[in-house]
Amino acid sequence: MKRVLVAGATGYLGRYAVQEFKKKGYLVRALVRNPEKFKKPGAFFAPAIEDLVDEVVYADATMPETLSGICDGVDVVFSSLGMIKPDFVHTVFDVDYQGNMNILDQAIKAGVGKFVYVSVFDAHRMMNIPNVQAHEKFVKELQASRIESTIIRPNGYFSEIGQFVARAKRGFMFWIGDGFVRSNPIHGADLAEVCVQAVDGREREVEVGGPEVFTYYEMVDLACEIAGEKPLMLPLPFWLADGLVAAVGLFNKEVHDVALFATTLSKIDVVSPKYGTRRLRDFFTQCRLLAG
Ligand SMILES: NC(=O)c1ccc[n+]([C@@H]2O[C@H](COP(=O)([O-])OP(=O)(O)OC[C@H]3O[C@@H](n4cnc5c(N)ncnc54)[C@H](OP(=O)(O)O)[C@@H]3O)[C@@H](O)[C@H]2O)c1
Repeated sequence: MKRVLVAGATGYLGRYAVQEFKKKGYLVRALVRNPEKFKKPGAFFAPAIEDLVDEVVYADATMPETLSGICDGVDVVFSSLGMIKPDFVHTVFDVDYQGNMNILDQAIKAGVGKFVYVSVFDAHRMMNIPNVQAHEKFVKELQASRIESTIIRPNGYFSEIGQFVARAKRGFMFWIGDGFVRSNPIHGADLAEVCVQAVDGREREVEVGGPEVFTYYEMVDLACEIAGEKPLMLPLPFWLADGLVAAVGLFNKEVHDVALFATTLSKIDVVSPKYGTRRLRDFFTQCRLLAG
């Protein structure tokens, strides 16, 4: 039986990855930094993992001394470890780059056979964003290392648009630009299938998105339909959004970088190869129950 270390196991994707590895017969070791999160289900219906995991190691990836031996006896490392919202303590380079480098060091020491890492789709078009720079800095190091690796390059996850229905219920929706940019977001469970299949695949990189393509406006519209509301719609012109992002940057770099991600994505189509069966309509319908 193969043993996998899942780093980022308490996150949206990591939870589905734990579930999928278990389903495929792996012995699962989870890297966890917060015991409370380990016990509870995740956001937006991501599964509880306590009963799926065979071994748990409590560690903080930014503190290499806590990681000693985490890869011993491990055949595969899967990492969706990253910082998607600022914690105002670490930079994205501390976590997405150095945190994953610390795990890679352990994987090399332990002679791990394969490392599957989750970066982002179309990173080369978004290299102005520090989060993407940090991901790609790690990708470069991983691909130059002696471990066989696969980089997963996903489109946005359903969790990123999980607030749409609640916002529609609150009566106010906004977006940047004309709302015509297209993307195909993906459910965590569909993406986890791709991540686990990558372990036995030969590809260096796998680009992936969900089965349905929407404009941003179509996603907003669907959320409103499912919420049963006609909220106030406020499209923010690019010049205003860019100005606000620049102004925020004068005071807070972390918030600026997250906002820069949003404005960058509002200007480009990001449609990746389609995969999966889980539909946005069903996800939003689940979200309506949460929103009350
Ligand atoms: N969300 C998207 O739409 C999207 C799209 C493309 C790519 N990605 C990338 O996919 C990855 C996973 O995204 P996600 O939405 O699943 O993120 P998430 O829910 O925030 O999960 C991130 C995971 O990393 C863990 N983590 C962060 N810092 C850590 C540290 N210092 N030590 C140990 N664990 C640490 C978190 O632990 P805690 O639970 O304790 O916080 C969590 O388990 C990220 O790298 C992200 O950039 C995301």
